[in-house]
Amino acid sequence: MTGGPKPPDVIAEFYDRHPYPPPRRDLDDYRERWRDPDLRKAEHHLHFPGTPFRDNPDVLIAGCGTSQAAQHALRWPQGKVIGIDVSNTSLQHTADLKKRYDLDNLEIHHLPIERVAELGKRFDLVVSTGVIHHLADPDAGLQALSGVLNRNGAIHLMVYARYGRHGIRLLQEYGRLLGIDPTEAEDLGRTVAQIPPDHPLAPLLRQSADFRNPDALADALLNPREHVYSVRELLDLLGRSGLTFGRWYKQAQYLPHCGFPTKTPHRRRLLDLSVSEQYAAIELIRGSMLRHTVIAHRADTELGNDRSGLNGDAWRDVVPIQLPHTIEVIEGAPPGAAAVLINQSHTYTDLIIPITEPERAVYQRIDGARTIADTGALARTNPPDLRRLYQRLWWYDQVTFDTSVS
Ligand SMILES: C[S@@+](CC[C@H](N)C(=O)[O-])C[C@H]1O[C@@H](n2cnc3c(N)ncnc32)[C@H](O)[C@@H]1O
Repeated sequence: MTGGPKPPDVIAEFYDRHPYPPPRRDLDDYRERWRDPDLRKAEHHLHFPGTPFRDNPDVLIAGCGTSQAAQHALRWPQGKVIGIDVSNTSLQHTADLKKRYDLDNLEIHHLPIERVAELGKRFDLVVSTGVIHHLADPDAGLQALSGVLNRNGAIHLMVYARYGRHGIRLLQEYGRLLGIDPTEAEDLGRTVAQIPPDHPLAPLLRQSADFRNPDALADALLNPREHVYSVRELLDLLGRSGLTFGRWYKQAQYLPHCGFPTKTPHRRRLLDLSVSEQYAAIELIRGSMLRHTVIAHRADTELGNDRSGLNGDAWRDVVPIQLPHTIEVIEGAPPGAAAVLINQSHTYTDLIIPITEPERAVYQRIDGARTIADTGALARTNPPDLRRLYQRLWWYDQVTFDTSVS
């Protein structure tokens, strides 16, 4: 571990006492899961559209916490990973994992994001999840990260959302009013367990295991500093940082083409909006987004705009790759459908796609090597409209595409 002096910052002090996420000693399952080359391929093509798969990215984990940098070092054994953080406790947990898993490809530094240029390096992928919104000056932090990105690099950024955190904000305000200290998180946890079922925090308590761990509860409810972002505010933040929006990591929940917004009387009016206005409108109508996870690029990137590759003439030659967490469910499929496709990482239950039997035959031929044309080749009776099917699979986070081969 190397690095400069610790900045006198409430946040560093907070995470020294309450490291997040709750430390893990065992990453065996994680390592096993990421041995699957298709997972790494899918990640690559989500982040670097139009480029051939590479297994050896230079990765920066900015604000790595207790385990994220070690996880990425396991995920990309041929790559190089650097983790930086301002919390010594978190870095120590990362150092323990580095030793335990013999991670020669992982370097860690005690260094604030704002000073990341001091590493003297550039990265293909910068991952910063749950960090920027805690900085005194998020713009300065994101500008610093944008400054160390390779020309065709990608930043994977997660920030807190503005509107879905109402229940959390009530409890944060309650904590301030009573002067609750982060060391009292366990008592706060016992109080929170008693809140009425119609409190705006209640759905989150049911969904999130985080609220059962005192450090995680402190992170969510007693954090000394956080900013929140609506879709518009996030897109503006990217623009001010020399970045351009690439895609939502999971996009279906933002799109007027997916789920319940397609059934409202406003369907056509939503589609008449600009794409960024569509995202903003859907955030308002869904109302409960807690965070936004976005993939962004340098404003001067050479990566193309057609992320799916379905808009060009060569769309039949594109190779579809199934995304993780996707499953096909046959039981209970609606009338006329042979199955429904679900991405289990979605939090909204309306984001499912019914598919017909011929569509299912195409879907089942996706293997990460066949082109779109190949997946449709056997469908002789009622051949589905392939382009339309793949457009839907793309919107609903079922597939990504390798367009570098077309
Ligand atoms: C909520 S945790 C997220 C950890 C990790 N990114 C993850 O998703 O698992 C936030 C982390 O950001 C770190 N952090 C906060 N401000 C920072 C800064 N200015 N520079 C680097 N790290 C920072 C904290 O110490 C903490 O470990």
